[in-house]
Amino acid sequence: MINTELIKLNPNFDSALIVPAATALRSGELVAFPTETVYGLGANVFCEKAIKKIFEVKGRPQDNPLIVHLSMLEYLTDIAINIPQMAYKLLDTFAPGPLTLILQKSDLIPEIVSAGLTTVAIRFPSDPIAQVLIELAGVPIVAPSANLSGKPSPTRAWHVYQDLAGKIPYILDGGTCDYGLESTIIDLSVTDPVILRPGFITARDIKNATGIDVVEYQANQSDIKSDFRPKAPGQKYRHYSPIATVLILQENPNLPERLNNLLTGIEEFIHKKASDNNLKGDITKEILVGLFLAEELSKELNLEYFKKYLYKSTCYNVRFKLESYNNQQGAAGAAHDLFNRFREFDRIQADLIICSAEQKSGTGIAYMNRLEKAAAYEI
Ligand code: TXA
Ligand code: MG
Repeated sequence: MINTELIKLNPNFDSALIVPAATALRSGELVAFPTETVYGLGANVFCEKAIKKIFEVKGRPQDNPLIVHLSMLEYLTDIAINIPQMAYKLLDTFAPGPLTLILQKSDLIPEIVSAGLTTVAIRFPSDPIAQVLIELAGVPIVAPSANLSGKPSPTRAWHVYQDLAGKIPYILDGGTCDYGLESTIIDLSVTDPVILRPGFITARDIKNATGIDVVEYQANQSDIKSDFRPKAPGQKYRHYSPIATVLILQENPNLPERLNNLLTGIEEFIHKKASDNNLKGDITKEILVGLFLAEELSKELNLEYFKKYLYKSTCYNVRFKLESYNNQQGAAGAAHDLFNRFREFDRIQADLIICSAEQKSGTGIAYMNRLEKAAAYEI
């Protein structure tokens, strides 16, 4: 066990507070830091020993490559070769920001970073704490999300603390991440650029801002067999899963029908759980259900009625924790809070989490991607 120091940084932070962490990072220690997407677990890109520690600490499979984080364009040519003009155009428009590009790798980059691939992922975070950390460390920083492998990515410092306390020396606490979902990944190492992981920057945003056509994320890319070496290796692993079972409440323009699907979905889950655990009729056991629902739906919910109905039909007392989000501006609100809600519902030991589906367009593509990876089934 090592002592984990949590360094709180307000928006007008003094860079001097980051110096000890940056020095440790440069010399081979791991430092967790905020980015505008999610918290990252950083190591010096040139220090293989430190990078090995990332895999150990996270329990991350060795064949899942890492993203190199940069603060200045000048370093790019140390990291990548044969950089297409398109890359500069995309960076011009979207960097610094939540965009990762896959480029051909330079020989300076250790194999362990790219898990043996000939390509490397790069990104320029816009969070000032991340930028100052990279500057002070004086080297590019490789960083996966700062969670244990398989857990939801951290969007608050306490999420990182929960997973990595005692394992790393520093966590820089910059509060809540602006976006709350990981960056959009675009593969530029192929003839037709393609989105490998959807994020806040969408194919449509890219087309509108730069005229560049990128192929939209294909959901079936994640249907990957375990012996397959995929293009974005992270896709073959189960991601983002809370401990509780996650269900997706399908879209339905008919509100009463949607509410009814919610109720019967909970009822079925309890019946199934009861028969699995042989607990049928154990009325001493309470079931806790976390609901993450669009506001328009949660306004119409009558939880008292739900409780009475469920007690009658299942013999269980059901408690609810209701969290709603505003989706008037699309799915951004839902996307921003999803990982945090997963962590919160796990913290209160929910048995079941039900999240509203959103339309698969704009930010909704990324939101549904993360939700589908976490979910057991749809109701
Ligand atoms: O927003 C983000 O991107 C966050 C913050 C910390 O920057 N980072 C992040 O890293 O999400 P990680 O390691 O959790 O996810 C990186 C993803 C993985 O799915 C990995 O497979 C993919 O990027 N990746 C990395 N290098 C790649 C490469 N050369 N080719 C294809 N996919 C790659
Ligand atoms: Mg991750």
